[in-house]
Amino acid sequence: MTTAAPSRIPATLIPGDGIGPEIMDATIAVLDALGAPFAWHPAVAGLAGVKATGDPLPAATLDSIRQTRLALKGPLETPSGGGYRSSNVRLREAFKLYANVRPARTLVPGGRFEDIDLVLIRENNEGLYTGYEHYIAIDDDPHAVAIATGVNTRQGSRRILEFAFEYALRTGRRKVTVVHKANIMKALTGIFLETARELHATTYRDRIAMEEIIVDACAMKLVMNPWQFDVIVTTNLFGDILSDEIAGLVGGLGMAPGANIGTQAAIFEAVHGSAPDIAGKGIANPVALMLAAGLMLDHVGREDLGRRLREAIDATLNVDRVRTGDLGGSASTTELASAIAARVGAT
Ligand code: NAI
Repeated sequence: MTTAAPSRIPATLIPGDGIGPEIMDATIAVLDALGAPFAWHPAVAGLAGVKATGDPLPAATLDSIRQTRLALKGPLETPSGGGYRSSNVRLREAFKLYANVRPARTLVPGGRFEDIDLVLIRENNEGLYTGYEHYIAIDDDPHAVAIATGVNTRQGSRRILEFAFEYALRTGRRKVTVVHKANIMKALTGIFLETARELHATTYRDRIAMEEIIVDACAMKLVMNPWQFDVIVTTNLFGDILSDEIAGLVGGLGMAPGANIGTQAAIFEAVHGSAPDIAGKGIANPVALMLAAGLMLDHVGREDLGRRLREAIDATLNVDRVRTGDLGGSASTTELASAIAARVGAT
């Protein structure tokens, strides 16, 4: 009797710029050791896209993601000059990646806060990021007045709030905190709060707790007592700021993964950039991208593999104490990857 090979899941693979190819090689080595079920479709973007095709987001890359609806992406540089728009923003728009999910967990004890485990969910398509901005000239000052218009819709608010409640339920969380500034921006963020109250009352009241907090108070409470939070959901700009603050609670961007989930695709990445200052030196920390790959495994229903990957990373950093320079160690990118791959193989 023959058994059919388990079906593999097509996924686009974009190594990215700077340290991107180094941390992507390290991540793929660990995913291979884990037996991750992806069939990779390599593609280029960022500076590598400009070099190959003259476009930081080549049509072939967009086509690949359109087909696979799933991607693991290294950091992308937006070439300065030449009028290029950020490839990350273009990807968000092209695939309606409305939910940005950033889990933050203490991985290396001994930092400012122990035992942090919280998740920030940021609306990714609306708010003050829609870019409706202009100046008004007065006399000889062309920039005398600056005006920006934010756009939040009930439908967009409902979609991200539903995503947050469902995420919290699926992952066994206890509470969703809705962050807003409805006391001042009564319409722009009031609609978000109003929709949250309505949705919670009609659909989630008996299933999960919801609390509300104003963004400035939330920023303070995060540094006073971060353990009081669990899942936080908020609008685009507040989410941008709070997610970096939260990454700071657990040792900085080098350890922070991000998932961009949309109606048409899901793209997983490290939160950090291409780190041109250390590119090519073989010393970059690949953990954030590996954790992003872990989120991708969770997303395709392989939470078992995602959990094994996270456990192997924990054990390598804290039991074997193999760490890259940014974590106070002396391991190279490939040494850390080999150590994690060995742990993954042993579980
Ligand atoms: P960055 O995150 O690349 O670097 C900031 C600092 O953190 C640098 O000192 C760098 O060496 C260090 N660092 C970052 N990742 C690290 C890692 N994995 N291991 C060890 N050290 C690490 O931010 P920066 O310098 O502002 O941006 C560089 C480029 O990356 C820019 O072109 C920017 O546009 C792009 N970028 C792309 C992002 C993406 O594609 N998602 C996100 C952020 C920036």
